[in-house]
Amino acid sequence: MPDKSFYATTPIYYVNDAPHIGHAYTTVAGDALTRWRRQRGESVVFLTGTDEHGTKVQRKAEENGVSPQEWVDRLVAEHWRPVLETLDIANDDFIRTTEKRHRIGVQRFWEVLQESGQVYPEAYEGPYCVGCEEFKVAADLEEGTGEFAGQQVCRIHHRPVEQLSEQNWWFRLSDYTQPLLEHYERHPDAVAPRSAYNEVVSFIRQGLSDISMSRSSVSWGIPLPWDEEQVVYVWFDALLNYITAIGYGDESRTGFFDRTWPADVHLVGKDILRFHAVYWPAMLMAAGLPLPGQVFAHGWLLVGGEKMSKTKLTGIAPTAITDVFGTDAFRYYFLRAINFGADGSFSWEDMRDRYTAELANGLGNLASRSAAMIGKYYDGILPEPGPYSNADLVLQDHLARAALDADAAMLALDFSTAIGAVRGFIDAVNHYVTDQEPWVLAKDEERRERLGTVLYTIAESLRAISVLYHPIMPGSMATLWQSLGAGESVGPLADQLVTDIGWGRLAPGSTVAKPGQLFPRLPDEETP
Ligand code: MSP
Repeated sequence: MPDKSFYATTPIYYVNDAPHIGHAYTTVAGDALTRWRRQRGESVVFLTGTDEHGTKVQRKAEENGVSPQEWVDRLVAEHWRPVLETLDIANDDFIRTTEKRHRIGVQRFWEVLQESGQVYPEAYEGPYCVGCEEFKVAADLEEGTGEFAGQQVCRIHHRPVEQLSEQNWWFRLSDYTQPLLEHYERHPDAVAPRSAYNEVVSFIRQGLSDISMSRSSVSWGIPLPWDEEQVVYVWFDALLNYITAIGYGDESRTGFFDRTWPADVHLVGKDILRFHAVYWPAMLMAAGLPLPGQVFAHGWLLVGGEKMSKTKLTGIAPTAITDVFGTDAFRYYFLRAINFGADGSFSWEDMRDRYTAELANGLGNLASRSAAMIGKYYDGILPEPGPYSNADLVLQDHLARAALDADAAMLALDFSTAIGAVRGFIDAVNHYVTDQEPWVLAKDEERRERLGTVLYTIAESLRAISVLYHPIMPGSMATLWQSLGAGESVGPLADQLVTDIGWGRLAPGSTVAKPGQLFPRLPDEETP
């Protein structure tokens, strides 16, 4: 049987509105991780998609005077699919919860649980936050202020909760308190970072209560197979996307499902940790399915100290940034500037500073200087290296170490450290250029061989950089790769292993062209 694929997921996003950079952040992280895994030679499945049912989406459609189906079709076509192009995401699949494959899988799953006695009918009385799409308890609420003074509001959305009173079906979550605690004791990496793990374990330790798994007063959802009057509670519909997308409930896809499940990592924002690290594994246990390897809870992009959100009108559209800086700089910036797992604030100044220092000056200049020198001294033909000096060998060692460090960091989802390792190498190459002074060597015909070695070393360093940075900045690194003539020498960039970075792969004699402006100067910097 073929090996299991590395399976990574993003949350599926609510289509009550268009995406903002908070959504883009998770998707970009998943894309960089899975591109890296592919370049380790692994078989990968990367899934993203949209969460289309529930009260929030239904009301938004009503406000806009269209049916929920029309609304979600429009939002997905006009915003959620196009944003993947904007961000250069290489996802393997895109699941929508309104698809038939999902509905069939969800109904099958809950039927299995109902038949094994894990679901029972009971009245629900209590608060519900439509923003969170979540049944709340007193501890989740606080006194409202301003226009909501005197009312109980959700701690996350700061808006009043609604009082529900309905007859629902309940899932026996309380049966899983002990099994979940044992699971997390045996798998201390199953939730990361550590702070998230501790939060989950202490929540479970308080003891889990049964939870309503259906809604009777909502019509926009997936009907329960045994009670058509009710729809599956939106979270217990949405979480199942991780298995319905890969063939749960579809006999013809059993082989693929077995090669893919369990997920290796679910990437989520910390706001939805409890759903993924408590309810989801309990559901899987109830169905007798293996549990995911890890739930990684990353931090929030903040605006004014609060989570960026469309509801609070603080969302920035990804194109507002990519239109100025380009897609690759967007991807680079968010993975580099924020520690994955911690909160971070986006700032135009910081983005501009890093773009200029690290991308335009650090890497872009190196690439264009290197091509210009090979053009000038060798008519654009890559020279043959002579014997390597100590300085050359030190640089080669640095590269080998940087590749190992970047790999270890990427596997740990520490994107910032991984990028830092490559950046350290770029700095070293820039120093090497300054120290070796190829423009001085070029004046002395007797040092022609040394000049060739230095220029070859720089070009070969750029080849390695383009491989290591490709998962982060696929577009510009492909341009760099082609400009080095690497495609002619060693084939497509996407096939290059980050775990076999090597040295001396570029074939002397191949054509080196100017890569153009990899990271163009920003508009107002051109003005004197
Ligand atoms: N539909 C649910 C998830 C179901 S998964 C089975 C949901 N959707 S959401 O549209 O609200 O998006 C949630 C995810 O978007 C977060 O978990 C996070 O990954 C990302 N982000 C949304 N706003 C964010 C920030 N301000 N900062 C960082 N990420 C954020 O919850």
